[in-house]
Formats: sequence, C-alpha cells, structure tokens
Amino acid sequence: MNFSSPGRLLSGPSGIKELMDDLGHALADSGPSCHMLGGGNPAHIPAVEAVWQQGLQAIAADPAALRRALGIYDPPRGNPAFLETLAQLLRTSCGWPVGPENIAVTPGGQTAFFLLFNLLAGRRPDGTTGRILFPLMPEYIGYANQGLEPGLFAARRPRITRTGPHTFKYHVDFDALNLTPDIAALCLSRPTNPSGNVIPNAELRRLADLAAEHDIPLIIDDAYGYPFPGIVFHHATPLWTDQTVHVLSLSKLGLPGTRTAFVVAPAPIAAALSSMVAVTGLANGNLGQALTGPLLADGQLLRLCREEIRPFYERKRDLALAAAQEFFPADAPWAFHASEGALFLWLWLENARKSSRQIYEDLKARGVIVVPGEYFFFGDDTADWPHRHECLRISFAMDEKDVRTGLKIIGQEIARASS
Ligand SMILES: Cc1ncc(COP(=O)(O)O)c(C=O)c1O
Repeated sequence: MNFSSPGRLLSGPSGIKELMDDLGHALADSGPSCHMLGGGNPAHIPAVEAVWQQGLQAIAADPAALRRALGIYDPPRGNPAFLETLAQLLRTSCGWPVGPENIAVTPGGQTAFFLLFNLLAGRRPDGTTGRILFPLMPEYIGYANQGLEPGLFAARRPRITRTGPHTFKYHVDFDALNLTPDIAALCLSRPTNPSGNVIPNAELRRLADLAAEHDIPLIIDDAYGYPFPGIVFHHATPLWTDQTVHVLSLSKLGLPGTRTAFVVAPAPIAAALSSMVAVTGLANGNLGQALTGPLLADGQLLRLCREEIRPFYERKRDLALAAAQEFFPADAPWAFHASEGALFLWLWLENARKSSRQIYEDLKARGVIVVPGEYFFFGDDTADWPHRHECLRISFAMDEKDVRTGLKIIGQEIARASS
C-alpha cells in the first residue's frame, strides 16, 4: 500500500499499540490464573456504577432526554447547556475564570491530545518546526506517537530525590529546561501516568511562569486529577493562568466507554479545537455529557469523587504498599515513586541484573502482567539513560487478591534480579 508520510507515522508500529496487543495476548494466554496489574482501565466501583445506571434509566424514561442523547448532532464544541454547567463548576470549584468559549468537548482525552499537539506543533508558516516539550520524563505513553510529522516531541530527564530507603520522587530539572524557539508548548500529566507523581504547586507555577515568558501554552493532563476524578492522595491545587490548557476526561470516573473529554483553554485554542472536531468527526458523542451534566449541576459528581472514588483508590494503594513491604526483600535496592495520585505504583530497580523488559517477561511467564517502564520514556534526551530500563508500572486498580498475589511474585523476582 502506498500510504502517505503522516499515514505511515500514524499506522506504523507504536509503543501504545504494541503494549495494548501484548497486554491483550498475555491476558488471553494466561487464562484464569492471570494477575492483571498491567492495564490502565479504571476499577468498577459498585456505588459509582449504580449512579450511572440510575442516570441512564432517567434518560431512557424521558423521551425528550433520550432524543437529545441519541437522536441529534450537538454542535462540534459540545452541548451548549452542558458547556454552561461545566464552566460554572470550574468557576466555583476551581476558581478558574472561564466560560463556554473556553471549553471544547472532544471524543476522549487521547483524541484531545492528538488535536492539540498537531494544532500547536509541526511545520509553521515561517518554515520552522514547533515541538512539544515534556519537562519530566517518564510520561504517558499515549502521547508518544501522536505527531503527524517525525521529531515533534522533546523531553527532559527529571532530578531524582531519594525520600526514604525504598522511596524516591522526580522533580522538574529547571536547569535543563532551556526553552528554545522551537518549543511550541509544554505538556505534563498531573498526577503523572506512570509514576503517580503530582508535581508540587511551586514547580507547576514555575512552569507556568516560563510558559508566560515564552508566550507558549502549558498543557496539563488532568486525566486522574482535578476537578474530576480527583484521584489525588496528596495536597495539590489546580492552576489556571492565561497560558494553561487543561484536559479533563470522564474516563477515570469509570466512563471510558463514553469517550468524552473536555479541553479548557484560552478561547482561540478552544475554538480551533472545536473546528478540528467538526472536520474530523462532525460532532462528539452526546451520552457522556447527557449522563454527567445533571450530576455536575447538583454537585453529585464532585461528591462521588470525594466520597467514593478517591477513597476507593487510596485504600487500594495502601493495601498494595503494605503488601510490597511484606513481600519485597528489605535488603534489595527497590524503590517506589511517591504515590501521590492515579492508579499505579512505579517501581525502580536500580542496577538490577535484569532489564525491566526481562523482568516483565519472567513475570508474564508466572502469570503476573505489569508494564515494562521503557514505554514511558520517549522524545530525545532519554535514549541512553539506564533508568529507562530499570522501572515497572504496577496497577493497583484491580482485584485485591490479584494485586497481593502479584506483588508477592514480583517480590520473588526482585530477589532474583538483585542477588
Ligand atoms: C495520563 C492519561 N492521559 C490521557 C489518557 C487518555 O484517556 P481517554 O482518552 O480515555 O480520556 C489516559 C488514559 O489512560 C491517561 O492515562
């Protein structure tokens, strides 16, 4: 087939496709004894699922609501009443001075990033090429292959601080950031997938100041953050400035099937994104907005986040950390990144005798599925960094028994890899 250059880039091999294929096959091949600590799927929380069920029943029981949810194309920017409700919530709960003109609905966060990256980076009218800079690697693997041109992403290694015998934390290395004229935007996830890092308010403010100085956007991926789903275990404040672009998603509330996300941005960026949605997809799916609009308006959604979703994951996180203390060899050099949010523990096995890829294969052979860390290092600057072969991402969102048994087996493999 004679595919175009962008066509080849998008349809060719990619970390995310390889990962999704491998996880899918591993799951299918391991059968019922598989301990799945690999995926990014949110958990199925009964109290939360009950709310979706009631909401769907209310829509189904009301012919006008059903028609609005299923039978019409909304404007590409999103449902006007929903946009008002969301803007109101962002003003009152986050203090962001925004209106509907600052919001664009997209078919999920993944698509929001594809549109945003290619809106802001790539070949410019003056012949230069703009790039997206990830100031703190490791980052979300899903960003890695989204450019319509090669070389669209730049990345920087973090500063690492040891915070205890078995804990560490990444920090933005501001000395290494040098924002050259090709840098078109900064981007980070907060909390970060994979590390669970919530970059401190002061570091975020410094990034925002840099973005202002260079007049470029600072894109903040709130997939796990504020205002929803709020899977944050550590005090942090959401930040709004003239440069910030926030990407919120319904997925980690437990609604990945609705494929709904919201970009909250300076008005020209939101307008450009809604034009791109019109060109690429006409309109967005209505169901996520129809289901969550009433819950945003009456405060129920944020209450669910505070009272059900965050405590659910925090408890799972605590159980996973306790299991690791119990099963991991105390004298081996393993360390977890500070778990400040999201669904994962990020394990660093410094100077292990096996690479994370080998440990992943050994674990897979024993029915434990995790994600080898090298997927989360991309862009320049990280290729020859040994750290990228020393980390594993372990999800704690799944069944408690699986997480505990999986961690026990991981502990045995740590002992083998470090002796
Ligand atoms: C950090 C991060 N950003 C964005 C996404 C995309 O999510 P969605 O397209 O379901 O909104 C994910 C999904 O796992 C994620 O982990």
